[in-house]
Amino acid sequence: MKLLILYGTTEGQTRKIAHFVEDVAQERKCIVTLCDSADEFLNPDGFDAVMIASSIHMGKYHAAVAEYAKKYAAQLNKMPSAFLSVSLTAASDDKESWEELYEITDHFLKHCDWKPTQTLQVAGALKYMEYDFLKKMIMRLIAKKSGASADTKHDHEYTQWDEIQTFVKDFTNLKATA
Ligand SMILES: Cc1cc2nc3c(=O)[nH]c(=O)nc-3n(C[C@H](O)[C@H](O)[C@H](O)COP(=O)(O)O)c2cc1C
Repeated sequence: MKLLILYGTTEGQTRKIAHFVEDVAQERKCIVTLCDSADEFLNPDGFDAVMIASSIHMGKYHAAVAEYAKKYAAQLNKMPSAFLSVSLTAASDDKESWEELYEITDHFLKHCDWKPTQTLQVAGALKYMEYDFLKKMIMRLIAKKSGASADTKHDHEYTQWDEIQTFVKDFTNLKATA
């Protein structure tokens, strides 16, 4: 299977996730092309399946990822495609926060007219050590709301790698049996 993985990241956690997806897919004998939406837009033609990952910042996915999904929605809707949504909310147990997260995802997919075969909500990371003062304060507030750590002296990773591994295995199986 020729698999395209396209991602949008700000602090690098989604890049790390995309590389992990690449590793799992390669173990499954996929031929993988990985691309950062900030650098290039590869046409899905010529690939058997596409996985797109984007983090959320201030309630929004990356503009370049939205542009890509919108531009190629017609092609994506005719092939197996998956969306990995990366956020801090996905680390939360709060029902209201999850409802907001589902709304953000639904709104994004409707806006792009993209109907992925599978979607996964992925918990991201808090990279306090990399944030400037303002970002640190914003993230402390978001973290408190999500039940994540407000300890700004350390970074905190919430990503459940096993969950992603299972998702990628299911997705690549789906194509193999399609
Ligand atoms: C300035 C800023 C705003 C954020 N806004 C949100 C948000 O609105 N909702 C949310 O669930 N997570 C939010 N996050 C958490 C990120 O989605 C999380 O840190 C993720 O791991 C970032 O991935 P990236 O490093 O690939 O950009 C925000 C993070 C930052 C730094």
